[in-house]
Amino acid sequence: MAHNSSMDKFVSSIGITLDRFITQKQADFSSARGELSQLLRDIGLAAKVINKEIMRSGLIGIEGPAGDKNVQGEEQQKLDVVANIRYIRALTRGGEVCAIVSEEEEDMIDTGNHNAKYVVAMDPLDGSSNIDVNMPVGTIFSVYKRVTPVGTAPTLEDALQKGSEQVAAGYVIYGSSNILVYTTGKGVNGFTYDHSIGEFILSHTHIDTPADGNIFSYNEGNIEDCDEQIKKYVAHCRSKKMTARYVGSLVADFHRNMLKGGIFFYTGTKKNPTGKLRIMHECNSLAFIIEQAGGKATDGTQRILDIQPTSLHQRVPLIIGSPKMVDALLSC
Ligand code: AHG
Ligand code: MN
Ligand code: MN
Repeated sequence: MAHNSSMDKFVSSIGITLDRFITQKQADFSSARGELSQLLRDIGLAAKVINKEIMRSGLIGIEGPAGDKNVQGEEQQKLDVVANIRYIRALTRGGEVCAIVSEEEEDMIDTGNHNAKYVVAMDPLDGSSNIDVNMPVGTIFSVYKRVTPVGTAPTLEDALQKGSEQVAAGYVIYGSSNILVYTTGKGVNGFTYDHSIGEFILSHTHIDTPADGNIFSYNEGNIEDCDEQIKKYVAHCRSKKMTARYVGSLVADFHRNMLKGGIFFYTGTKKNPTGKLRIMHECNSLAFIIEQAGGKATDGTQRILDIQPTSLHQRVPLIIGSPKMVDALLSC
């Protein structure tokens, strides 16, 4: 049948799938041999599986606590465990990753793929407290190149790298719609999941965060415990009648703020003097992404990406978002 332009309105273009986009972008890296592309596709696949399970979690008996505590003494939810297993399996079988560092695992996992050159750090399920109440949750990941020689067993040195060494980072949100956002250091792009065809489709090209914004995301229940700087900044936000938005899933708060302009901060409290969020599993990835989108991420004294991690589950204060808002907090 000859192409008839009037047919276009019935047969609209589907757009670029995540897989095709990854393959196209591989050309940006002259030395790329496709391993990173394959790794990102593996994450995309695991994200689809987890999404399916989350969508049905109220029906298939994977809501609620798993009955164990994780390394940090936090109660593990069944979906924390399920997501952890899914991602580890996808990355191990994919073959491109020699080591995995997960929020849910005390030690670094040696995948046995000693010829692989990448290391992944991840929070398989961010926002655990929101799982059972149908609120958005997500997955956060960082990719590094190993520093030890290919062909040998990975060591802690491969995992404990500064965030500035990331070669890729991203997150998935299982929310009102499901989105995967990632960067390889050449801008940030987002892919919305189309359930009807089972593909992530490019929907947010080259995301730039507004330089300034009107949203602040902070757990104000902690205000009595925090330092003067935070009290002053929150008073400033109130005086400007800014909008308070705090979902309790970092990844969802972060995503909204990045798109609309805003700031998220979780600094020290009496209970958690260095804050709650983990540099390897959460902060580094989002710091890389926000910088790529034109924003800032700091622990209050230095750029998150410049911090040399000393342990896998290290927590750091996180102040992240639109650059003018981060500067305003720091100047308090
Ligand atoms: P996780 O579910 O991976 O343990 O992370 C929860 C984190 C983060 O997503 C969220 O912003 C923060 O905890 C909320 O903590 P508070 O309840 O202390 O505000
Ligand atoms: Mn988390
Ligand atoms: Mn988690």
